[in-house]
Formats: sequence, structure tokens, C-alpha cells
Amino acid sequence: MEKHIIDIRQFKKPEDLDYILDLAEKMEEMEKSGRNDKNLLLKKDIRKKILAVLFYEPSTRTRLSFESAMHKIGGEVLGTENAKEFSSVTKGESLQDTVKIIGSYADAIVLRHPEEGSAKIAADNSPVPVINAGDGQGQHPTQTLLDIYTIKKELGKIDNLKIAMVGDLLFGRTIHSLAYLLAHRKNVEMFFVSPEMLRLPMDIANYLRRKGIVLNETTNLDEVLDDVDVLYVTRIQKERFRSSEDYDKVKNSFVINSNTLSKMKKNSIIMHPLPRVNEISPEVDSDHRAAYFRQAENGVYVRMALLKYVLG
Ligand code: NCD
Repeated sequence: MEKHIIDIRQFKKPEDLDYILDLAEKMEEMEKSGRNDKNLLLKKDIRKKILAVLFYEPSTRTRLSFESAMHKIGGEVLGTENAKEFSSVTKGESLQDTVKIIGSYADAIVLRHPEEGSAKIAADNSPVPVINAGDGQGQHPTQTLLDIYTIKKELGKIDNLKIAMVGDLLFGRTIHSLAYLLAHRKNVEMFFVSPEMLRLPMDIANYLRRKGIVLNETTNLDEVLDDVDVLYVTRIQKERFRSSEDYDKVKNSFVINSNTLSKMKKNSIIMHPLPRVNEISPEVDSDHRAAYFRQAENGVYVRMALLKYVLG
């Protein structure tokens, strides 16, 4: 059976999530020790595994951390800088055909695409595992796995948490995957802070309600600051707006600065999938609660674990 990673709910069972988190922890230990652990790398005695990296939308962290992770576990990477401009898609080739072919050149495909549902379509047509690195305003499951890894590392737990998700909850795919997964944890209280226009999509809100989650939605960040363990801040997804006037109305809705910090608990953390625009002012970076750069680093360990799981 192919091991596609498309929807974060594939990891709703605690034991499946723990498997990846534990493997990522081992990857981090290996990295920090500077010594290879043969059991964690791809096997040397069989052909080298190749990962194809197919990105139809811009990316810095996701693409480079996947490439780095693949190199670190002993595999090879194949990719085009910008699939939208430099692949045969510009000649009208369908995603279905593209993945069918790429699947004969590589052992797995990491795909980022502007359309929600594209990762599923790719998986249905691919002879090799497909990893969803963001499908439009749909999901971003590997980001959530590194987010959860970060929360566990920083706070020592992923249950019994209070978390506020702030910013673009409508278009933010990192939010969607994170909310889906946290709905399956024990005693996680979620606060959703956004402009009216950018509230959580209806289908996700309904899913959470069915799971017994109380939807604490507000436009006022100050209401939640002194209560939360995690403040998960996101960028307003400019590229997904129909009109620039709408974007201008909400673009600077929330800005985290030292005043915000002064209202937060001493042992809380601030996360952000990055890139940030104006949502977190640079003065916050030096505070110990600013976890977003550590979070980005964790991406490599988690993606090493995912690639080992998919290809190992
Ligand atoms: C996010 C994404 O692409 O969804 N970035 C990332 O992968 N770390 C967030 C964003 O673009 O705002």
C-alpha cells in the first residue's frame, strides 16, 4: 500500500502520531550528535531513493527542508525550481499526467499546488507516495506535524492545552490541519482570533463541533492573551483574496509586539509557520517565548522522519 500523506487526519490515532514524533526525535538526536545511525538512514544496500519536489507555489522552508531532510537520510532529490513556469504544465499538461510520469522517475513526490484537493488527485494518479506540501487553502499536514513536534518539545505536552490561532483562519492551510489534529487530542481548548471576514471555514468548524470542541471565536486578541499556552500566529494569505481592497481592510489586523508579550504567561510560546509580514514585530524575536525560528528548524527533523516512514 502506498503511504501518501494528504490529510492530517491520517494521524489522528495517538499511536500513529507518536510514531512520527518519536522518529523525528531520533533524527534530531542523530543530527546533534554529528554521527550517522544506520537504522535511521535509507538502506545503502538497495538502489538510491529519489525524491521529486514539485512546487507550483512559492516556498522557502518547506521545499528546502524537504530537500535537506532527503539528503541527510541518504537519498537524492530531483526538482524544478518553479513547476508553474518550468514544467510542461505551461504547455497544458494535466497534474494527473505529470505525476504519472514523475512517479516513474522518483520514489516519492512532494507536491505544493494552488488548488485545494490537488494532492488527493495527484495521489490517486501516482504510482509512488505523494506528500502534500500545501494544497491551496486546503491543508498542510507536514507543517502540522512539525508544529506538534515543536509544542511537545517546548511545553512537554500536546494534550491539556490552551491554544489561540490568530490571523487568516479562512485561507490558512496550516491552521486547518492544526485544528483538525488538535480536535483529536485530550482536553485541548481552542480560541480562534480573526477578522470577521477570515473566520474558520464552515466545514472545519462543523467538524470541530462534531468532535465536541467549543468554538471560541473572537475578533479581540486581548481577550485570550493571558490564558493561552500557545499563540499560533499566521500571515493574511494575500494571494488567495479576490480583491486587493478586501486584503487592505484586514492586512494589519493583528500585530504581536512587546505590549502583547507583557500580557502573556511567562511559560507560553508564540509560533508562526512563517513567512511573517507584519504580524510579529522583530522586537519579539529575542524573547524566550518566541518559538518560530526553533519551529522552522524542527521542520528538518520531522521531514527526515516522514521520508524515512514513506520510503524506508
Ligand atoms: C505556510 C504555507 O505555505 O502555507 N508556509 C509554510 O509552509 N511554512 C504559511 C504561509 O504561507 O503563510
